[in-house]
Amino acid sequence: MKTLLYLCLVGFTATTVPLKHDEVNYPRFVKLSDNDDVMQTVDLEEQPDTTLLEDIYRNPDNNRYLLYTRDNPLAPQTLQINNTFGVFFSKFHAWKPTVVIAHGWLSDQNTEVNIALTDAILRKSNVNVIVMEWRRLALSSYVTAVTGVPAVGRRLGQFLEFLHRATGAPFESMHLIGYSLGAHLVGNAGRELGGRVARITGLDPAGPLWNLNSNRLRSSDGIYVEVIHTDGGVLGQGIGSAIADADFFPNGGVSQPGCLTSFCHHKRAWELFASSVTYDHFLGRECSSMLQVSLNICHGKIFKMGNGDIRKRGSGLYRLNTGRRYPF
Ligand SMILES: *[C@@H]1O[C@H](CO)[C@@H](O)[C@H](O)[C@H]1NC(C)=O
Repeated sequence: MKTLLYLCLVGFTATTVPLKHDEVNYPRFVKLSDNDDVMQTVDLEEQPDTTLLEDIYRNPDNNRYLLYTRDNPLAPQTLQINNTFGVFFSKFHAWKPTVVIAHGWLSDQNTEVNIALTDAILRKSNVNVIVMEWRRLALSSYVTAVTGVPAVGRRLGQFLEFLHRATGAPFESMHLIGYSLGAHLVGNAGRELGGRVARITGLDPAGPLWNLNSNRLRSSDGIYVEVIHTDGGVLGQGIGSAIADADFFPNGGVSQPGCLTSFCHHKRAWELFASSVTYDHFLGRECSSMLQVSLNICHGKIFKMGNGDIRKRGSGLYRLNTGRRYPF
C-alpha cells in the first residue's frame, strides 16, 4: 500500500505540481547516487536538516584534511586549520604543488574516487595531495548536502588560506579537484580565495538543484577551470551544460560506452580523469556549439582533456570519443 501510494505520488507530482525550486531541468523526484550502484530516490523539494547545517556551519572540525605524499601514500596525516605546528611537523612541503580532492554525495575518506585519484596523482607527480573529507554533510539528505556545500567549500578556502599564510605555499601551485557535489564545493573554495588558485577541475559537477544556483562552480573560481561532463542527459546526475573555461564532453557528455546505468556514466568522469593523469592521452577537438558536440562533428583545434598540469590554460567546448574500458 505504501509503495502504491508512493508511486501515485511520484506520477502525480511529476506531471501536475509546479516546482517550488527554481529548477527547470528535473522533476521533483530524481534518482541519484555518487557512491554505489544503489540509486536513491531524492525529493528535491524536501526541507533541509537545519540542525545539522547549523552544527556544520559552527564546527569546522566536522571536515578533515587528509595529507598523502609519496612518503605516506596510504596512511594520511590529518592537518588542521590554524594548527601551524601540525603542518610544520607533517610531510607537507610548500615547494611542492598541492592537489586537493573533494568527494561527492554519500561518500567519505575511503570512497573510490579518493583512492583512485590519490594513487594516480602520486605515481605521476611529487605533490602534496590533500583529500578533504566532508562526510558529515555528504552523508545527509541530498537537499541538505546541496544547501551546506557552499559553506563547506568556503571552509576549504579558509583552510588553504591558512596553509598559504603558515607555509608560503602559493595559490598558483594549487589544483582543486571535485567530483559531483564536490565540484561545486571546490568552486566555492576557489571563490573564497578570489579565484587565485591555479586550476580547478570539476568531474561531472552535480546537476539537480544547481542549474540556476548562484553557488555553482564557475569559470571565475580559479585561474583556469576545466569540467568533464559524462552524465549530462535529461535526468542525468551531471549538470550537462558548459560552466567552465574549458568544458569537455567525452562521447557527447550524455552517456558513456560500456555503461548501462546513470551511476556508471557519472563516475566515468573521475575514471577518465584518473586515466588522463597517468597517460595524458585524451585529445579533445574544439566545437563551435553544443549541437556540434552532440552530432560529433567538431573540427576545431586539439586540446587535451584532464591531466595534472597545474599551468594548463585554455577555453572552449570540446568533444572526444573514448573506449569502454580503462584506460579508455
Ligand atoms: C584561524 O585564524 C584566522 C586568523 O587568525 C581566524 O580569522 C579564523 O577565525 C581562525 N579559524 C578557525 C577555524 O579557528
